[in-house]
Amino acid sequence: MKAAVLGYGTIGSGVVEILEQKKELITRETGEEVSVKYVLDLRDFPGDPVEKILVHDFDTILNDPEVGLVVETMGGTGAAYTFVKSALLAGKSACTSNKALVAKYGSELLAIAREKKLNFQFEASVGGGIPIIRPLYSCMTAGNITEITGILNGTTNFMLSKMDLEGRAYEDVLKEAQALGYAERDPSADVEGYDACRKIAILSSIAFGKFVDFEQIETRGITDITKDDMAFARKMGYAIKLLGSCKNVDGKIYASVSPKFLPTGHPLYPVSGVFNAVYVKGDMSGDLMFYGSGAGKLPTASAVVADVVEITRNPGRTVFAGWADETLALSENTGAENQYFVRFNAADQSVEEAAAAAFGAEEITKIDHEPGFALLTAKMTRAEYEEKAAAFSQIAQMIPVQG
Ligand code: HSE
Repeated sequence: MKAAVLGYGTIGSGVVEILEQKKELITRETGEEVSVKYVLDLRDFPGDPVEKILVHDFDTILNDPEVGLVVETMGGTGAAYTFVKSALLAGKSACTSNKALVAKYGSELLAIAREKKLNFQFEASVGGGIPIIRPLYSCMTAGNITEITGILNGTTNFMLSKMDLEGRAYEDVLKEAQALGYAERDPSADVEGYDACRKIAILSSIAFGKFVDFEQIETRGITDITKDDMAFARKMGYAIKLLGSCKNVDGKIYASVSPKFLPTGHPLYPVSGVFNAVYVKGDMSGDLMFYGSGAGKLPTASAVVADVVEITRNPGRTVFAGWADETLALSENTGAENQYFVRFNAADQSVEEAAAAAFGAEEITKIDHEPGFALLTAKMTRAEYEEKAAAFSQIAQMIPVQG
């Protein structure tokens, strides 16, 4: 198998490194030697051994019949899409670490791969080094998946963990995440939840077998989470985590990305720092947890190389991976039942009593330095919550509780 790696950044260079360093192992695994014939990048890398196989023009790869596989690690949905699509149309399989590409064009690329008896795989696009996509489509085929809830973004999990454990403010931990290279200078893809949204869209599509459009997933980030929210959560026995979630409730499929109150007993509760974890419920398998590095050069590249191995093992045969060419209609989240954490910025006793009665709260919580109070509502739909909340101008925050 001769492969071409598109993009020699962090992940692409990791793929080249693993394929070289683990050549013997990979040959044993696949029964065939896998070598990188080309690396495509706009840049030059003087002194790097990759120089010998570096090309700047994708057509060199496209027109070389020896290349059976393109490994896309460029990112984005521009050239990455054009290159992967033309490679598949030219009879070359493809794999990618690019969640934006899979979430936007996955259906089309999977259909071309099926049509041409090729493979399009994307294990590294969700959860970096965590094996999650292959387990979903391969190991969990004996039952239905009823829920996936994941900490799918390491940057925001790092920030929320710091806010929780060190009592620091959002802006302060964001600066640290940027200094450490986790968050970009424009951090919106992480902190607004867009990254997690694409990842849960991909997982939902695999879990439910039809395309889940990421643009239909209600997405809320962590930018309005305050030190006070953290302090209340801790006092009430919860952590605040940014969760991507999809659920099948009596045939209705709900999906969201949102900060959630997570009870101490939940398997995702101890997942802190830049780690990712995905909690999966199956009607036959029971509850499963997948945990590991959601980013980073070698963990992510190892997941890409696992696709390279899978593709090399299956020439002329499309491995069933992905979803049918049909779009899934998500149900409105306003109809889903939840408990909610609600923080009020006034501590007037009459407001406390009225709020507790309206929301069916068992108790009111206060913290030392804060003039307001907080409560957990009874279980109700979001539509019911919103109707009740309209009567309270003192509400400063609402965060759903993970059920
Ligand atoms: N920005 C992402 C994260 C990188 O923080 O998890 C991996 O997709």
